[in-house]
Amino acid sequence: MDLLQKLKKEKILTKEEFIFLLEHREEVREEATKLARKLGDEWYGKSVYPRGLVEFSNYCKNNCYYCGIRAANANVKRYRLTKEEIMSACENGYQLGYRSFVFQSGEDPYYNIDRMEDIVATVREKYPECAITLSIGELDRERYQRLFDAGAERYLLRHETANEEHYKKLHPGSMSLTYRKQCLYDLKEIGYWVGTGFMVGAPYQTLENIAEDLLFIKELDPHMAGIGPFIPHHDTKFKDEPAGSVELTTFLISILRIMKPNLLIPATTALGTIDPKGREAGILAGGNVMMPNLSPVVVRKDYELYDNKICTGEEAAECFHCLSRRVELIGYHLDFCRGDYRE
Ligand code: 5AD
Ligand code: FES
Repeated sequence: MDLLQKLKKEKILTKEEFIFLLEHREEVREEATKLARKLGDEWYGKSVYPRGLVEFSNYCKNNCYYCGIRAANANVKRYRLTKEEIMSACENGYQLGYRSFVFQSGEDPYYNIDRMEDIVATVREKYPECAITLSIGELDRERYQRLFDAGAERYLLRHETANEEHYKKLHPGSMSLTYRKQCLYDLKEIGYWVGTGFMVGAPYQTLENIAEDLLFIKELDPHMAGIGPFIPHHDTKFKDEPAGSVELTTFLISILRIMKPNLLIPATTALGTIDPKGREAGILAGGNVMMPNLSPVVVRKDYELYDNKICTGEEAAECFHCLSRRVELIGYHLDFCRGDYRE
């Protein structure tokens, strides 16, 4: 279809064109997948980059309406890993071959700037050749700078939705889309490699909203973009909402790959949760990153953003072998390097 070729050539479409493309996605899916995979292979070959994910605290001061670990959910068993536990998760990952770590948590005031700085500096010192990514939410610029100076070099912060009205339907009034976008621009300016993204099929989301998300991603020009299906969590007000679909998520992965061929795009755990072959489908649609869990198994099921999350009973080594097999079966391989963004 012309629009795909236009996107390939100009790397952008108008909002109306994006909406049209999304509406007619079944007609162009095959072509989009093929093109996306070709571009992905040109930039990153048959490599899939694994990032060892350490979910070190499920305390959160926020109340995003969709999220299972929101502050108001009294049914969550809260945990915090100690610094020693975090370091031991890294060591376990390092021994398995991981050279890229992601530290994620809710917005937990206990892990204030001093404590985070100390953790980042310790990991940096112990594993000088590994990439350190943080995913700990909204902070001010000065704090982002301190963490960057301590050795963190990448940051994941999904914008969640680029539409103000839609943002308000997913978040309480205490949160602001403007501030979130500001965080992303601050992070980029400081020099982080930045990842943003959104949920596919989030409550109230329209195709127009998705087109706006794509335009925002174009404008921000991040190094990574993570998209995964929305999945309801039983303790949230969205518990009866339908989950997002594999078909729309994978199509959007292809669109992102065509729009920005060197983007780092994960095949997310959420995608693997709604479909047993979801992560493979994500790679085959143009993804090139996976984020297996390195957290101790005893806390895994408590980091429950959505229901039925996969891999909560598996040891890091089990996921390592499982994922290796999975990507090899589709003609790719886990590439245990830092998985740098290419320019
Ligand atoms: N379903 C899918 N993804 C979710 N996230 C939070 N809650 C859910 C849910 N119910 C995503 C958000 C957040 C990321 C860490 O997880 O997009 O940025
Ligand atoms: Fe965790 Fe398959 S990746 S069990």
